[in-house]
Amino acid sequence: MKCILMNKNIEVLIAEYNNISKFFDEIIDIKNIDYAPYVLKKIYLEKSEDLRVVLTNWFKGRGIPSWRDRLDILLYRLNIASVEDLLNKSFGLSLSDQYWIKPYDSNIKYDDINFFDHDFDSADFLDATFTDRTFTATNDASLRTPNNTTDGMLRKTWIIENGKRYLLKGGYKNDIMQPFNEVLATEICKRLNFEHVKYTLDIVKGRVISKCECLTTKDNEIIPASQIIRGEKKNKSILDYENYIKILENNGIKGAREKLENMYILDYLIMNEDRHLNNFGVIRDVNTLKWVNVCPIFDNGMALNVNYYDDSTIVTEGNGRLFYEIKSFDEIIKVVKNIKRIDISKLDTVVEWFDNLLHKYQHITKISDDRISRLCYLLNRQIDKLKILIENS
Ligand SMILES: Nc1ncnc2c1ncn2[C@@H]1O[C@H](COP(=O)(O)OP(=O)(O)O)[C@@H](O)[C@H]1O
Ligand SMILES: [Mg+2]
Repeated sequence: MKCILMNKNIEVLIAEYNNISKFFDEIIDIKNIDYAPYVLKKIYLEKSEDLRVVLTNWFKGRGIPSWRDRLDILLYRLNIASVEDLLNKSFGLSLSDQYWIKPYDSNIKYDDINFFDHDFDSADFLDATFTDRTFTATNDASLRTPNNTTDGMLRKTWIIENGKRYLLKGGYKNDIMQPFNEVLATEICKRLNFEHVKYTLDIVKGRVISKCECLTTKDNEIIPASQIIRGEKKNKSILDYENYIKILENNGIKGAREKLENMYILDYLIMNEDRHLNNFGVIRDVNTLKWVNVCPIFDNGMALNVNYYDDSTIVTEGNGRLFYEIKSFDEIIKVVKNIKRIDISKLDTVVEWFDNLLHKYQHITKISDDRISRLCYLLNRQIDKLKILIENS
């Protein structure tokens, strides 16, 4: 299929997409490389890799990843053979950016189809994602949603409520803590004045899930850090971190260092193990291509991970992520140069707040009192440790 990679109504490049191999066999013409996805432009300029492969992987990466929790069941229920087929149902449109694939001979316009302006029906997708009911999708319209292009491991669905787009996320397999961790992170960020995505709790199909508003608009996109540092020489993680800050500053982002520090302070407090390179990034204006800001902190669910406890011990994973390295939280927090600015007294009642929250939903989650007290103990411990770091700095 001859097609055009579009950014809103701008033609980026013309290519031949092979519907069988799901590969972009040929790049026929480059029209406007500036408006390409960041990674594609970078590789194009550097000529460091085969652009067809990069384009294919970028497009495939827009689909639901193969490691999505219960992907096979989801596809079966939607009556779809592959993630790529699902992508093609909705031109590869997303709510996290404005790229799409237009059939070459089509006159369709972004304004006619994008999901920021146009409503979509998530009922089937929501059912297929969050219930155990057996059914298959009712019609093709139910597959034209931005749910075909959500990244990440957790089961998730975009919905519309009162005209606003919200992302609903469940826990991984039977883990029920993720939504609570998201909400805890929101509370901490609010108290410490860190720019963040606001998560609340909701109950969908009998499960507690987290809910956040769409942070992107028709005019701005998220560029994940993975794309920004693609092709940069891998170093020790602290150097990768410094290099990343430099790239952001060179592109005009204000307060980049402080905002990244905030993210690692949050990760320290909640022991977030999952700060990989797609869980942070920048916001870019898609019309002017200006880098606007560090992306508000999002995806903080994989935290306070108590593997095992008894009366005398509590065992956690204990490691976080700093760029390409997995390191202890005590190591990672050292990247924060200015920690004195944190008013830790703002967190004085946060453990109590978290304890109340967990108890409030206990009738659904069935988390034991014992486990709640261990989680609160851990949180309290991290706050105390941060206090000491601040005092000693
Ligand atoms: N509020 C949001 N607005 C727009 N895009 C979002 C929002 N939250 C997440 N995303 C996009 O969806 C992807 C998956 O969401 P994420 O919260 O990271 O899920 P997971 O926990 O499964 O990794 C993110 O990498 C990001 O690109
Ligand atoms: Mg994620």
